[in-house]
Amino acid sequence: MSPRRPRILSGVQPSGKLHLGNYFGAIRQHIALQDEGECFFFIADYHALTTIQDRRRLAENVRAVALDYLALGLDPERTAFFRQSEIPEVTELAWILSTVTGMGLLERAHSYKDKLARGLAPNVGLFNYPVLMAADILIYRSNLVPVGQDQVQHIEMTRDMAGSFNQVFGRIFPLPEARLDRAPTVTGTDGKKMSKSYGNTIEIFAEGKALKDSVMRIVTDSTPVEASKDPARDNLFALFSLFADEAERAALAARYRAGGLGYGEVKKLLLAKIDSHFAPARARRKELERHPSAVENALRKGAARARAEAQETMRLVREATGLR
Ligand code: TRP
Repeated sequence: MSPRRPRILSGVQPSGKLHLGNYFGAIRQHIALQDEGECFFFIADYHALTTIQDRRRLAENVRAVALDYLALGLDPERTAFFRQSEIPEVTELAWILSTVTGMGLLERAHSYKDKLARGLAPNVGLFNYPVLMAADILIYRSNLVPVGQDQVQHIEMTRDMAGSFNQVFGRIFPLPEARLDRAPTVTGTDGKKMSKSYGNTIEIFAEGKALKDSVMRIVTDSTPVEASKDPARDNLFALFSLFADEAERAALAARYRAGGLGYGEVKKLLLAKIDSHFAPARARRKELERHPSAVENALRKGAARARAEAQETMRLVREATGLR
């Protein structure tokens, strides 16, 4: 084992407003990992083009996600934070990796199969999505990839591609590992997995009435107020638990079982938790919005660092493959 700190990489799709599922599934651990290794985090705008084909919307989403991450604690002094498309070398590596990747591997990708099942007419970019993702990871010779559960298969595919490349051309890439957060699945307002595509999200930066409305939308069963309730079966309790410490959880669970606690009251408790948890980040985000050039500079600086690393890897890859 090398003594160097692990290199940690992750990407986030600029797909609109971030929600609690993104936060507990990925962002929170991204922020915490800044202390554990050398971090590279990027905004996956090339990937976004497979679904967002409107320049204004793409630019706005990229801006928003950059603000969100910086506000939530991403430190651009310690972490290389950048836009994927400022490193065009990843598309070159994606091409090279595609030549050692079987069609069958890509045809088995859940995310691709899900999109087919939902009736989307897939473009080739969507099919190749995992190859570009592998290139993102391998070009920085990353060791650890913090992601949500839904991305684990993509990391396995990356390991397959790295293994094939190494076998054919010589060992250049370490095999990266996925690192899952403690709370991989967050339920949405309807009790299903929280996801933008289900329209059941609670946004991190919603506040005031908008936040209240989404909390009030959380579906509960029809157990009357007086009756004893089972916290383990309640979606509201699960959401509250994400923000609460052990003692607070136990206290609320006891009130559920005792009866006399209405879901409306739990919604208020949850709302207060969300508000206080994100209050500092909201203030920072507003401050950053007033300084767009600071955000731009942070992204540029991150890109310069990432690009130097990517170019060094591509030098090795070109040499190993016999390209000029
Ligand atoms: N596919 C990831 C997602 O939807 C985003 C992503 C792109 C990514 N490239 C990556 C994540 C590389 C980790 C590593 O969330």
